[in-house]
Amino acid sequence: MQFHNDKNKVLIIDFGSQVTKLIARRVRELGVYSEIITAAEVKKLKNFSYIKGFILSGGPSTVTEKKFQSVPKEIFYKDVPILGICYGLQLIAKIFGGKIKPSKKRREFGRAYLFKKKSSPLIKNFLNKKNSVWMSHEDAVIRLPKNFKTIASTKNSKLTIIENSKRKIYGVQFHPEVTHTKNGNQLFKNFLFSICKIKKNWSATSQKKRLIDEIKKTVKKNKVICALSGGVDSSVVALLINKAIKKRLVCIMVDTGLMRKDEFKYTYDIFKKKYRLNINLVDASKIFLGKLKNISNPETKRKIIGKLFIKVFEKESKKYKDIKFLAQGTLYPDIIESKSSTGSKTSKIKSHHNVGGLPKKMKLKLIEPLKEFFKDEVRVLGKSLGLIKNINLKHPFPGPGLAIRIIGNITPERIKMLQQADQIFINELIERKLYNKIWQAYAALLPIKTVGVMGDSRTYENICLLRAVTSEDGMTADYFSFPKNFIDNISNKIINNVKGINRVVYDITSKPPSTIELE
Ligand code: XMP
Repeated sequence: MQFHNDKNKVLIIDFGSQVTKLIARRVRELGVYSEIITAAEVKKLKNFSYIKGFILSGGPSTVTEKKFQSVPKEIFYKDVPILGICYGLQLIAKIFGGKIKPSKKRREFGRAYLFKKKSSPLIKNFLNKKNSVWMSHEDAVIRLPKNFKTIASTKNSKLTIIENSKRKIYGVQFHPEVTHTKNGNQLFKNFLFSICKIKKNWSATSQKKRLIDEIKKTVKKNKVICALSGGVDSSVVALLINKAIKKRLVCIMVDTGLMRKDEFKYTYDIFKKKYRLNINLVDASKIFLGKLKNISNPETKRKIIGKLFIKVFEKESKKYKDIKFLAQGTLYPDIIESKSSTGSKTSKIKSHHNVGGLPKKMKLKLIEPLKEFFKDEVRVLGKSLGLIKNINLKHPFPGPGLAIRIIGNITPERIKMLQQADQIFINELIERKLYNKIWQAYAALLPIKTVGVMGDSRTYENICLLRAVTSEDGMTADYFSFPKNFIDNISNKIINNVKGINRVVYDITSKPPSTIELE
């Protein structure tokens, strides 16, 4: 699916790399509109006049086998500049007659150092003498294609940046889109502004008016219903639609009893009193807890919660007549992930449940005003809609809520215990100005008890696990390094204030090999 077919853009052709999304984000962060398409979609392109550049992503395929992922050759002859990244570079080399080989000697994973061989507009202010870049490749180009030159090499691979300046075709073996590559943004800047000569044409804020107009045009005099959770996405959707159609937006907040401490009431008060939204509360906490009794399997928990949520939402929505639309906070990554670059589905690790998903029976038309935006762009939109920082900058929170942070069986006592510990942890992060440096943080309860000593008595109580990670998109993550006194202090505070916890541990694994949540 492509949006904005009247707008100058850069198209990113996805060959299945884990980090293709980051390429699109980097380009947009520089103020240029970009979209991701699959190699199959390239065949359907008719009008090239809006395409100011192509970027070919990395991917798991190899051009050294008989069958490999490719693109129609015409795109190289449309006078549109092209930048190939990793597999993209190898594909360019293959198409133009170079030689590529899988090689133990030349493969590079992780950090590598670039050496300049020749000047080029692509590396201006990016590469002076020696740059550290991030690599992830087994195949390497070992013979230059005709009419190409080498701009830079590394110790292991000679042809690391190549160019055909006449055709404006460039290739880099490393990944400039990841933050581990030093100054990678400069390389994108050079490609976009010096080589593609595209003008800045994109900011999420500048889209606000268009989105509101589109909602008005689509909805006309009808009503829209939306599930409001208080997370960034549903909050921005609600504010946008409210700006467009006011009271004809009906928001439903379902209290599952699995939210953070006081969060449900806080969200309700803000949206009712400050933003004057038309909101209806449903307290379904008893039903959720009842259905989750004695359930410890994480996937079963997710399924129960997902199904029940839809049932409660559907029942509530039947109370409103003449509703024609259901609003959802679908984001651009959801759209990208729903189409696979190779046709194969990446293996399912956890079945993520999205609030408000699939009440097909309701026969409502969907409106998804955020479907062309990345999360950071949604936050920019949120800010311009006046969404308060506490909500706009909130960490992501999983649909099944605390149910997947209480490992094992869920009881009202365990929910209460976890809510208290989590609140202490999060408040401390806010007070110490660490909250916005962290992508996601939470407390969890482990399903085992351990011995402790408090005063003169032996205790046998619960373990609280704390997790705080940095990440760009949740696909990979690093644990956050706290100053030692922070960890000591938080452990004391939790044990002194939460009855039932006598031990606090901090999770120091990254993703991979772990995931962000425990279940
Ligand atoms: P993992 O644990 O897979 O989490 O590394 C990545 C991101 O996804 C969130 N997450 C979920 N979100 N329903 C959701 O809506 C779920 O079932 C779910 N499981 C994980 C997680 O909080 C993190 O932001």
